[in-house]
Amino acid sequence: METQDQYREFEQRNRNAELGGGIDRIEKQHSGGKFTARERIEKLLDKGSFVELDKFVQHRCTNFGMEKSHIPGDGVVSGYGKIDGRQVFVYAYDFTVYGGTLSAANSQKIVKVQALALKNGAPVIALNDSGGARIQEGVESLTGYASIFYQNTIASGVIPQISAILGPCAGGACYSPALTDFIFMVKDKSHMFVTGPDVVKTVTHEEVSKEDLGGAYTHSSKSGVTHFLCNDEEELLMGIRELLSFLPSNNMDEAKPMPCNDSPQREVEELQNVVPADPNVPYDMKDIIEPVVDDHYFFEVMPHFAKNAIVGFARLAGKSVGIVANQPAFLAGVLDIDASDKIARFIRFCDCFNIPIVTFEDVPGFLPGTNQEHNGIIRHGAKIVYAYAEATVPKITLITRKAYGGAYIVMNSKQTGADINLAYPTAEIAVMGAEGAVNILYRKADEETKKKAAADYREQFANPYRVAELGYIDEIILPRQTRVKLIQALDMASNKMQTNPPKKHGNMPL
Ligand code: HXC
Repeated sequence: METQDQYREFEQRNRNAELGGGIDRIEKQHSGGKFTARERIEKLLDKGSFVELDKFVQHRCTNFGMEKSHIPGDGVVSGYGKIDGRQVFVYAYDFTVYGGTLSAANSQKIVKVQALALKNGAPVIALNDSGGARIQEGVESLTGYASIFYQNTIASGVIPQISAILGPCAGGACYSPALTDFIFMVKDKSHMFVTGPDVVKTVTHEEVSKEDLGGAYTHSSKSGVTHFLCNDEEELLMGIRELLSFLPSNNMDEAKPMPCNDSPQREVEELQNVVPADPNVPYDMKDIIEPVVDDHYFFEVMPHFAKNAIVGFARLAGKSVGIVANQPAFLAGVLDIDASDKIARFIRFCDCFNIPIVTFEDVPGFLPGTNQEHNGIIRHGAKIVYAYAEATVPKITLITRKAYGGAYIVMNSKQTGADINLAYPTAEIAVMGAEGAVNILYRKADEETKKKAAADYREQFANPYRVAELGYIDEIILPRQTRVKLIQALDMASNKMQTNPPKKHGNMPL
């Protein structure tokens, strides 16, 4: 064959590979309101930056007639490229090829990309849209998943790992996204479940739709499996780009600072009026967070799950910070099982990737009740204190109002390792609220005595001064100074040198 013919043959093979499962299946994908694997990668990465690997890999299965059908690439598009000029690795299941199912061959493509990402210290992004294990391959496919899960686990805490669910994700396949740091889902199009509606019906006799069982809304608001609920694929892919802008490429790196035109000296007058005089009146903690951070921009994570807690990313003086907060506007900001899980996991992520943590605290305590106790609020709540105490990144706490009891301790108090603890003059730091305390101390007293005792209690504890006298609050600040004070504290702690004792790993309550 002439050289030119060889080149032509190569180009033809390339075009075939890029067609995946063929025009009909691509059209089916589009008519279902979905992009193809290649289109997704093109939209996700900087224009023209994608380098595809293993384009001609084929399966090696000879069962159930598979030996007669080969599609180059075998249902996974994988490689590397750039996001905002920074290196990332990516793999996308191609639903047009055997339903994007996992084979021994394409699992090796995925593992190759995961290993390259780890070796080169860059984030890895998985775009899932797959029927799961390729049935014809039996255990070969299952072991493919096992290798992917292994890589997910080894890379955890070393490089950011992000999963998008853009179609079905069923059975054990869900555990790869679950092992990654963040999951994105699309409304109406994404589904994740360990067993689908039919199996559920057979085993438990429950009738449930795919959407109710494992749709994007379910996982973003009820199960807490997913972190971001997006209206469409485009929004999802842009969301991944944005999330990455807050993160470093790996655990030895720091997030890239952004040019900041928002003055670090900016006082925020409107904050003087956010915390209500009556401690029982709710307010929205985001009315404090947003005006304080650079350009009022707060990138919230898990906004629909455990709304009594708030977590997310923002920047202060151009530098990425993780924000953790109680939300007095929802269940009075009480800590419960879901809020504990949400907060603890976010702290762990920030600490893995050198992102300082700023905590805004207004918490009346842990939620009482048999439901919480029987489901393990003790071990879940313990995660918060464990995560904060173990984290060695700069940790700043601001108490805006209530900081009661165990909840005061776990929300990054001084003795659990906070670097700087600030409080507004409206802060109340005590074992519990005045009414609760008086009902215990003066159970049998008449109403008049109780009233007086409650007033005494408030005078003594419903302020930050007692705690400031003890040095557990470093500084009492006016709300208008919040931005300035947080930036000063973060600047002070920016060269923090703290390490924990060497160990294989701790035994975090799970
Ligand atoms: C082989 C599969 C397949 C599978 C789908 N296909 N799932 N081939 N193994 N697991 C093929 C279909 O035969 C079809 O091929 C093509 O992919 C598209 O599938 P459709 O059914 O036509 O598409 P759709 O109607 O959109 O339904 C998609 C689906 C459904 C919901 C994913 O296909 C489905 O329920 N598949 C089975 C899902 C499942 O139970 N997987 C195993 C999970 S357990 P043709 O040639 O007709 O186009 C698992 C274990 C992992 O994954 C364990 C890890 C530890």
